[in-house]
Amino acid sequence: MTDNNQTPLISVRGLHTRFGSHVIHENLSLDIYQGEILGIVGGSGTGKSVLLKETLGLITPYKGEITFHNDQGQLDKTSIGVLFQDGALFSALTVRQNIQVPMREMGGVAMDLMDDLAALKIEIVGLPPEAAHKTPSQLSGGMRKRAGLARALSMDPKIVFLDEPTAGLDPMGAAEFDDLILQLRNDLGLTVVMVTHDLDSLYRVTDRVAVLAENQVIAADSVEELEKNNHPWIRAYFHGVRSRQSEER
Ligand SMILES: Nc1ncnc2c1ncn2[C@@H]1O[C@H](COP(=O)(O)OP(=O)(O)O)[C@@H](O)[C@H]1O
Ligand SMILES: [Mg+2]
Repeated sequence: MTDNNQTPLISVRGLHTRFGSHVIHENLSLDIYQGEILGIVGGSGTGKSVLLKETLGLITPYKGEITFHNDQGQLDKTSIGVLFQDGALFSALTVRQNIQVPMREMGGVAMDLMDDLAALKIEIVGLPPEAAHKTPSQLSGGMRKRAGLARALSMDPKIVFLDEPTAGLDPMGAAEFDDLILQLRNDLGLTVVMVTHDLDSLYRVTDRVAVLAENQVIAADSVEELEKNNHPWIRAYFHGVRSRQSEER
């Protein structure tokens, strides 16, 4: 899916991030291409979530540039849909109301149109129509993730950022969610950036994986290429977990 000769949709250059004296990113660069599914991996606290938030404009980096290479040179708020790591749905709202939150924020959309739009999002994420009227606590973990994804798709974004979307799901639920991501990329032409610790997910869905370590993206490549990479962290990650899994089989 990825053609690296094309202009990236988003490029991050020379990014420095620090909180007080705590250095998170130092001269980090990364390109995100149209239509790709890019995985992001890295140890806990390496700044994966912060990187997503900086790209969304929610956190301002200390230094560096994040450029959107579309016609306007910038993406408006509705171009990126997000499923945050802690992105819980509003527990008092139904799935339909949750999906409609971004529409209400924008304003000017008639109620019955919002209902139709929410029903459409519910359908494309593979939830049954009656899920519209349920609150998050009435749904299974996997269904809640789908509802979160439906909310991320609320404004028909071109890009979705998913921060550990399959965390907490059993392997089957995670595999089903991965299938959905693939299907949406293929059907809607979405560009997907997905932080995940799930090696199975990385193999199933990603075109490339960016590895955060040593305050930078030390590699951004297909999993097949990363398997051949000799960096100690990458070796430990791809071979350690893989071999452990195959021993369990
Ligand atoms: N708003 C903030 N203020 C201060 N420190 C923060 C803030 N957000 C994140 N951090 C710190 O930055 C580091 C990277 O955080 P994060 O991006 O959430 O890591 P992860 O790679 O696990 O997603 C962590 O040490 C975290 O405590
Ligand atoms: Mg995180």
